[in-house]
Amino acid sequence: MSLLSVQGLCKSFGGLRAVDDVGFEVAGGAIKAVIGPNGAGKTTLFNLIFGSSVPDGGSVTFAGAHLSTGRPQRQVAAGMGRTFQQIRLFPQMTAIENVMVGAHTRGRAGFLASLLPLPRTRREERFLRDEALAALRFLGIDGLAGSEATQLAYGEQRAVELARALASKPRLLLLDEPAAGLNMRETVELGKLIRRIRESGVTVLLVEHDMGLVMGISDEIVVLCQGQKIAEGEPLAIQKNAEVVRAYLGDEDA
Ligand SMILES: Nc1ncnc2c1ncn2[C@@H]1O[C@H](COP(=O)(O)OP(=O)(O)O)[C@@H](O)[C@H]1O
Ligand SMILES: [Mg+2]
Repeated sequence: MSLLSVQGLCKSFGGLRAVDDVGFEVAGGAIKAVIGPNGAGKTTLFNLIFGSSVPDGGSVTFAGAHLSTGRPQRQVAAGMGRTFQQIRLFPQMTAIENVMVGAHTRGRAGFLASLLPLPRTRREERFLRDEALAALRFLGIDGLAGSEATQLAYGEQRAVELARALASKPRLLLLDEPAAGLNMRETVELGKLIRRIRESGVTVLLVEHDMGLVMGISDEIVVLCQGQKIAEGEPLAIQKNAEVVRAYLGDEDA
C-alpha cells in the first residue's frame, strides 16, 4: 500500500497554474524524486503535501489518513519531516539546539518550556538533547553539535537541516533540492546518506536538479513541467522519455 497518495492537487497564483492536477503514489520504503525545470511547481507541490499551503483542489492521503492541508503541525505529528530549498536554521543557535527544535515535536513540553530551568522540563531537555545528538551522529556530524549555525560551512548547514528533519523521526522525509550548493564530493556523500536514511525505514520524496544523484538513488521519478505531470517511471524509462528530454533534460544544464 502507498504511504503517500497525492490526488489531483491544484494550486494557482493569480492566473498561473503552478500545480495543475498532479497525482502520484509513494510506496512505503521507496525513494521517489520529483524533477522538472525551474518554475515547474515542485516546491509548490511540496508545500501542498506538507500542508504549509492550501490547495485549490485535490487531496493528500498519508498512511491511510486524509490530511487536512494548511496545517503543517498535523503533518509533522502524522510523521512527515521536510527540509527547505533555502536553509532555515536559527543563526544564533548551535547546531544541536537547531536539531532540538525538530526533536521537540516528539517531546511532551513545548520547545520554549523545555529551555526553562524547571525540574519538570529538565528531563525533557535531556531527552531532546539525546534525540538531537542521535540524529547528528547518524549523519556523522555530531562533532558540530556545539558550533553556532553561522560558523558552519554551507554543506554543514545543509546537514544540520537534514538532522533537524530526522530528529522528528518522520516516516516520510521531503527533501527540497538537498544537493543545491553542494560540491561533487558532498553530493555523492548526500546520495549515500539518503540511501542510509531509507535503510533506516524512512520513505523519501525529494525534489532535485542534480541528475546524477536523482538517477542514482531513485526508485521512481515524477516529471513536472509547467505545473503538470508529464511523465512518471523508473530512472531509465525517464531518461529515454522523449517528452521529458524535450521539456527538461534537453534545455537544462543545471
Ligand atoms: N507564493 C507565490 N506567489 C506567486 N507565485 C508563486 C508563488 N510560489 C510560486 N509561484 C510561482 O509558481 C511557479 C512554480 O514555482 P515553484 O513551485 O517554486 O517551482 P519550482 O520549485 O519547480 O522551481 C513559478 O512560476 C513561481 O513563480
Ligand atoms: Mg523549488
